[in-house]
Amino acid sequence: MDHFDYRGGVLHAEDVNLEALAAEVGTPFYCYSAATIERHYRVFREALSALDDPLVAYAVKANPNQSVIATLAKLGAGADVVSIGEVKRALAGGVPPERIVFSGVGKTADEMAAGLDDGIYQFNVESETEVETLSAVATRLGRTAAVAFRLNPDVDAGTHAKISTGKAENKFGIPMERAGAAYALAARLPGVEAIGVAVHIGSQLTSLAPLERAFTRVGTFITELRAAGHRIERADLGGGLGVPYDPSLPEPPTPAEYGAMVARLTQGWDVRLIFEPGRLIVGNAGILVTRVVRLKTGGTTCFVIVDAAMNDLLRPSLYDAYHSIQAVRPRNDRITATVVGPVCETGDTFAEGRELDSVEEGDLLTFMTAGAYGATMASTYNSRALTPEVMVSAERWAVIRPRQSIEALLALDHPAPWLNGD
Ligand code: LLP
Repeated sequence: MDHFDYRGGVLHAEDVNLEALAAEVGTPFYCYSAATIERHYRVFREALSALDDPLVAYAVKANPNQSVIATLAKLGAGADVVSIGEVKRALAGGVPPERIVFSGVGKTADEMAAGLDDGIYQFNVESETEVETLSAVATRLGRTAAVAFRLNPDVDAGTHAKISTGKAENKFGIPMERAGAAYALAARLPGVEAIGVAVHIGSQLTSLAPLERAFTRVGTFITELRAAGHRIERADLGGGLGVPYDPSLPEPPTPAEYGAMVARLTQGWDVRLIFEPGRLIVGNAGILVTRVVRLKTGGTTCFVIVDAAMNDLLRPSLYDAYHSIQAVRPRNDRITATVVGPVCETGDTFAEGRELDSVEEGDLLTFMTAGAYGATMASTYNSRALTPEVMVSAERWAVIRPRQSIEALLALDHPAPWLNGD
């Protein structure tokens, strides 16, 4: 469910006409619907209502814009972060430190120290070496870090290889067979208290079965840990629930189905459950609006060349991801075309041989479901300025990240002194 609908033949974001908005802010631009973000958070939270005081820690990496974080913080969301930059963003967006969980396989000692200084809730630790460093940093600062070890349950999430994280060969988590020893090690370290377990097996999961397998292993392991004398109070079940991208594919499980499965599997665990949804909250809440620069007939293919490119929305190039493409003001016929950006790579292709609304030069198109892992993965490749982000709420809209100017882009680097004769 989202709030992008046609009214009078023109696509609107909530009550804002996207044609008018494009005329104001120029193209390309990302547009987020606040009502959709809020709705998705509420639906997810509601799906967990059978649980006792769960913490929904929004995965900031999916969309770190401070307006997005603030929209969620106002509803009581926490934050799952993976760098000190994300810790600072979460705090700036109004998330209290006691709702921040710090994940990631490569936290540096400086990041650990900053997180400890900020008083964050929990560190999800991914190796024996990491917990030793965290303990040393915490001891130096006179603090104790609350730790959950991230387990690698060796489960195939059945998603794209590049966003699969729970297989034995992936870099994430501690293998189950070493996990007991890791807790024993942590118990001997002065600066940490290992009071939780964590798991996250991948992203854009379209079936609950792998999650069930992983959670079942976590449940068994909690019993083993307690038998070994460890005090386990929290279990972080990660994120990963998929969203519909391609209307021709079956819809992923709903939050309600996910919530029911979690409630069933975690019965009797006697822990506070933590969740780290990213895509589910913001995926359908954002679109990328672009303008058709020109149409081109190649040797064998009809190309629609748009002013957005792989640097703005990387997912199709990186994961062969499908994003539905809709005209802002659909004409009455359809064409089959390959939609590409202006970047000088063949990989700068959004859709190959896709049937879509027929377009002419100057028409506006939108890439749907671009709210998660869209703007945040953008780069300035080909010296293209970062695309602006706009948030809409009912009939109001605000530019929440301005378009980067070419001057600002150039100012990011400068000639070495000897090139200026110094
Ligand atoms: N927790 C951890 C530890 C994660 O690594 C991730 C995502 C999440 C939570 C949130 O997962 P979600 O609920 O959004 O699936 N760039 C890729 C997705 C990478 C996901 C990385 N980790 C994409 O565009 O599909």
